[in-house]
Amino acid sequence: MYVLGIESTCDETAAAVVKDGKEILSNVISSQIDLHRAFGVVVPELACRRHVDIMIPVIEEALSKAGKTLDEIDLIAAAMGPGLIGALLVGVNAAKALAFAKKIPFIGINHIEAHLYATLMTADIAWPAIGLILSGGHTTALLVEDIGHYRLIGQTVDDAIGEAFDKTAKLLGLPYPGGPEIEKLAPHGHPGRFHFKPGRVKENLFAFSFSGLKTAVLYAWQKSDQTEQTKADIALAFQKAAFDDVIAKATFAASHYACESLLFGGGVTQSQTLRHAFQKALPHKKLYFPDLSLTLDNAAMIAGLGYVHYQHKGPDTLSLQPIATLPITHDV
Ligand code: KG4
Ligand code: ZN
Repeated sequence: MYVLGIESTCDETAAAVVKDGKEILSNVISSQIDLHRAFGVVVPELACRRHVDIMIPVIEEALSKAGKTLDEIDLIAAAMGPGLIGALLVGVNAAKALAFAKKIPFIGINHIEAHLYATLMTADIAWPAIGLILSGGHTTALLVEDIGHYRLIGQTVDDAIGEAFDKTAKLLGLPYPGGPEIEKLAPHGHPGRFHFKPGRVKENLFAFSFSGLKTAVLYAWQKSDQTEQTKADIALAFQKAAFDDVIAKATFAASHYACESLLFGGGVTQSQTLRHAFQKALPHKKLYFPDLSLTLDNAAMIAGLGYVHYQHKGPDTLSLQPIATLPITHDV
């Protein structure tokens, strides 16, 4: 079964063709980093306009790279949330229009769930697992019993972890996206010069909070000599505080729910520093990270998960609407 996937939740316009849920025939990603870099954050209105401009060329490129025409596509899957509503509308409506015109079944896919599925495209995993989605828009911990069976155990009460990296980078004068910039700078920092405390959420030990950490960085930077060395020292301390927090909560969750596997997804798991820190902290657990080509927002994970859900529940109707705040436990 050939599935065309479409992704437009945030600042990547992406389309992919995937066979039978796992075999990636094409995976085209057009990043808008150039557009948003001057602002240091994603500007929703600009993101939507760019999606409109390039959605069709990106889909055409995905089909052509896969050596397929629309007539050979068996299912069209589009990310229907969570994300920026204007951006989601572009991808979902493109998918529905093509599905209607060509009489191809259509299915809406949860973007967060797809980030976890990205890892399952290249690994067979032993369930149950602690699922961790660490991205620019989400910081979510789940108990995963199988694909489609999730129990939310914790999420961020304010900033997402990637958002905290992006905002911290911005206040240190580093370009967007901030995560890779901070990771590059951190090895030049002196360990121990700055200490930042992770955010605690009283009501839920598995929940995350990053806004206090970001503010602590702001005050430390404002009070400092603001040299390049200080910038690196702060980058190192911030990255350590953010990752130590995630590792501590994930370790606790794995022991609390008796899970041998940890399944990761989302752009922040691009970080080699994070991967190594987890491997060091949990040498006896099975850690499943996404292939680097599937870590950031992409449409292969949407097409792949589209195939899996289509097998279980069939297509969605063309009246399906995107939902900006779609939770992972939402029954679509
Ligand atoms: O999953 P993604 O492409 O977008 C969302 O669905 O949100 O993740 C993008 C996020 C950005 O916030 C970026 O700064 C972060 O992933 N990121 C990193 C690294 N590479 C990307 N954060 C920390 N360290 C990295 N090396
Ligand atoms: Zn994402």
